[in-house]
Amino acid sequence: MFGKLLGLFSNDLAIDLGTANTLVFVKDRGVVCNEPSVVVLRKDNKKPVAVGAEAKRMLGKTPADIIAIRPMKDGVIADFDATGEMLKYFIAKVHNRRSFLSPRVIIGVPSTITQVEQRAVKDAAAASGAREVYLISEPMAAAIGVGLPIGEPYGSMIVDIGGGTTDIAVISLDGIVYSKAAKVGGDKMDETIMAYIKRRYNLLIGERTAENIKIEIGSACAIEGEEPKTMGIKGRDLISGIPKTIQINEEEIREAISEPINVIIDTMRAALENTPPELAADIVDRGIVLAGGGSLLRGLDTLIAKTTGLTVMVAEDPLTAVVRGVGQMLDDIHLLKRVAIN
Ligand SMILES: Nc1ncnc2c1ncn2[C@@H]1O[C@H](COP(=O)(O)OP(=O)(O)OP(=O)(O)O)[C@@H](O)[C@H]1O
Ligand SMILES: [Mg+2]
Repeated sequence: MFGKLLGLFSNDLAIDLGTANTLVFVKDRGVVCNEPSVVVLRKDNKKPVAVGAEAKRMLGKTPADIIAIRPMKDGVIADFDATGEMLKYFIAKVHNRRSFLSPRVIIGVPSTITQVEQRAVKDAAAASGAREVYLISEPMAAAIGVGLPIGEPYGSMIVDIGGGTTDIAVISLDGIVYSKAAKVGGDKMDETIMAYIKRRYNLLIGERTAENIKIEIGSACAIEGEEPKTMGIKGRDLISGIPKTIQINEEEIREAISEPINVIIDTMRAALENTPPELAADIVDRGIVLAGGGSLLRGLDTLIAKTTGLTVMVAEDPLTAVVRGVGQMLDDIHLLKRVAIN
């Protein structure tokens, strides 16, 4: 009976439906799809022109009759139809067509998701061909993905810094003892970089350029033994209206993104203050694990360690931690039952 159940699960998919990136994991195959959560649609009939990486290349560059949409915002569905189209595309892309059964799907969702938002995710997955849909909290998935001992009577703290949200959880005995989330992440950093360059240099840049700047020269604190980086950036001058190039440096970008960084740190502080003392003691012993693409920002781990006084580790391959954790549930129906959201 159990073997049969496992067999059924083998066509099935684990999905991290993120604000910035959507990843799909298939049992025995691992991560088979890892693409930006972007859809380009025709304005008249709302049919997709491009999805994923191809669509992201078109962001900010589309003519009047087509629009590029990021259907997820702040970790949840902002545009239901576009999310459905995107999921349909990714599921069709990876699904084993020899199987006549439509897949069961397990999806990671933010820990603070509302009932209405849960319904929306389930409906979007069902509309894109899923047979049954299970939801699991993203920080729980990330903790499983990075191999934290979630089943033990031992407090583990995981911080998932994504594109739209920072999701913090303290986990013990397969449950989330405390969680806190803030609607800040990599996207806010990009926005503050755009605003800074506009204010300081009267230069308009797009969100893709802002993201590149963050990844190339962004940092949360000065990195010991490293020369501050500089970079030439192109945009449109607000006064003359003409495209131009300027030079910016790492310190300027650090100042630009300081506000969202501070929100992340304040949220972590609040989470630590609300952690029951026995579990807090465990976190002192074992430290905090960071996951999500935002944890790749240079110096962020160092800054968090400095301000909290705790040991901070960045997960190996932090961008895939959630989907790898969700993927483990495909193999382990007992684990899924223990940690799935009702
Ligand atoms: N090297 C890097 N340095 C800084 N930021 C990075 C780096 N690589 C990726 N990012 C940022 O990580 C974010 C994406 O992370 P991730 O894929 O974990 O988010 P998500 O899961 O889609 O979002 P959410 O969990 O909020 O729904 C983007 O904002 C991206 O710019
Ligand atoms: Mg995420």
